Amino acid sequence: MTATIQERAPLAPAAPHHFTRVADLTPAALTTLLDLAETIADEPEGHADALRGKAIACIFEKPSTRTRVSFAAACAYLGATPVALSPQELQIGRGESIADTARSLSGYVAAIVLRTSAQHKVEEFARWASVPVVNALSDEHHPCQALADILTIRQHFGDLAGRRLAFVGDGGDNVAHSLLEAGALSGLDVTIACPRTYAPDPSVLADALAIAVDTGAALSVVHDPREAVAGADAVYADVWASMGEEAEQEVRHKALAHFQVRTELMQLAQPDAIFLHCLPAKRGEEVEAAVIDGPQSAVWQQSANRLPTEAALLLGLTKGWSPLNREQ
Ligand code: CP
Ligand code: NVA
Repeated sequence: MTATIQERAPLAPAAPHHFTRVADLTPAALTTLLDLAETIADEPEGHADALRGKAIACIFEKPSTRTRVSFAAACAYLGATPVALSPQELQIGRGESIADTARSLSGYVAAIVLRTSAQHKVEEFARWASVPVVNALSDEHHPCQALADILTIRQHFGDLAGRRLAFVGDGGDNVAHSLLEAGALSGLDVTIACPRTYAPDPSVLADALAIAVDTGAALSVVHDPREAVAGADAVYADVWASMGEEAEQEVRHKALAHFQVRTELMQLAQPDAIFLHCLPAKRGEEVEAAVIDGPQSAVWQQSANRLPTEAALLLGLTKGWSPLNREQ
């Protein structure tokens, strides 16, 4: 599969594209992005060095292994220099505003990649930056993860529309939210199995359902993991206590105890179903070791897919690529 990037005059600095959540994309943009990611993975020489001489600010307020390194590797591939920053190294750690930080950084870098806590901080960066802002995880969304996830599903099954993904665990999880939006845009059916007290954010679900009207994706929330997994093509787990929720570990463990992905649960899915996990994983909590380390697990392919999807994203956003702009 080949995809070309149509270079256009960059957008006016005051109106860059941002990727604050999956729903910033159109269905067509998402498909084009996945096609480009596959091209980059299959024929890496095609876009190598496309951002030579540029710098990309990578601000991480929370720990990260995969996102930090895959963005650095994507920058290396594109010929750009990643500038790794933590709040302690920035004046933001001493009280400088996001608005002043975003406007200053926009004078030096081609994009700002940000991992933070509240989603409104990502949106505040996007409001003031005149270069693209990429959400590298917030408490509410993990859109870069969802790109790699649905690329993995597409690679396994050849398509997304009409396939079914079951997410089992905390329905209010950032990854679950982004998967709902990715399903809505791509036509992938997504069922979330969660306790009633850990349901998706109603506004995220409502936004995803509104998008799904056009694509035909069936999105649902159930409270029995078996109901969600029966006949699913992909089964997904994430940790029960996300970064910042460590104090709730015990109470979450109790509430989510029946939502562990075990071998018996996987057996209800399609025989060729895959198991996905964004990682890091806690074996014996949200997933049994036999599942994540077993033959149906696609987690290493999924993890590796972070690199080409993020390279495609950086390329698309910084080149003012029209399909990525929801307004066009
Ligand atoms: N999946 C993911 O985002 O992993 P990191 O927290 O290690 O970046
Ligand atoms: N939900 C997890 C995802 C980690 C990649 C967290 O926010 O910690």
